[in-house]
Amino acid sequence: MANLTIKPISGSLGAEISGVDVNHLSDTEFDLLEQAFHEYLVLAIRAQKMDPACLHALTQRLGGVGETPYLTGLTDWPDVVPIIKEANEQSAHSFGAGWHTDFTFQSCPPSRTLLYAVDIPPLGGDTLYCNLYKAYDMLSPAMQNLLLDLNCVHSAIRSYGPQATLRDHLENMEIHNDHRRPIEQVHPVVRQHPVTGRNALWINPTYSIRFEAMTEDESQPLLDYLNQIAIDPSLTARLSWQPGTLTIWDNRCTQHCATSDYKGHRREMLRTTVAGEIPVSPNAALV
Ligand code: SIN
Repeated sequence: MANLTIKPISGSLGAEISGVDVNHLSDTEFDLLEQAFHEYLVLAIRAQKMDPACLHALTQRLGGVGETPYLTGLTDWPDVVPIIKEANEQSAHSFGAGWHTDFTFQSCPPSRTLLYAVDIPPLGGDTLYCNLYKAYDMLSPAMQNLLLDLNCVHSAIRSYGPQATLRDHLENMEIHNDHRRPIEQVHPVVRQHPVTGRNALWINPTYSIRFEAMTEDESQPLLDYLNQIAIDPSLTARLSWQPGTLTIWDNRCTQHCATSDYKGHRREMLRTTVAGEIPVSPNAALV
């Protein structure tokens, strides 16, 4: 019998899990975690002992590793990316410190991300999450209908394009910017989740750069409005890490944002992504 316990961390999304060892999950525990994952969207599984091999193995079990561009992984485990901020770094800015969904500029963006806490500052370094199902549900039926017919262009240009400065702030991470303008990818603005069938408002301020067939100027006011809805405080959760916390989040229905409030302290995480599928609009089922 599983001893797994689930404790929600906010009214909108996120739950803490205890009483399991992710390195030795029974089929029953795995199924319970999957159920909880689709209910809470972000699971913080406490007190895990993981090394890169364990993280890689769990990522494989959850669907196989995704492709990781721009970031350099560990020598022996190239799909496991260390996210490190040392105590003596000049810039306070941390990796992922802007609202985003991981790698939405890919044709098949990662379905999930796994982030394991190795070293955590005494205070700060939390990660914020928001629920994009609820963001869609908050919109009026007329706005929902309008968005159902729109696609959005996603690009890595702001973070990893030729002029991007993210890597200048991260002295202890190896980031390779594109020398040319990164490839653009078009995805539906409303994404139907392949498991739950629910609709999510699937844009983010980091990688969604304009609506398809519109200019950036034409797109920005509506993108700004929608991005603001997505991070309405009542749709968010704040996760405080502990060494040994493994968090798994669903990139098909959430955004997240790291915080940069621990200058002078060290933070080290290990990150993998699970391979995803082509994002599908609810309209696709109708044709
Ligand atoms: C990320 O955006 O992938 C990293 C988030 C964090 O380090 O809290």
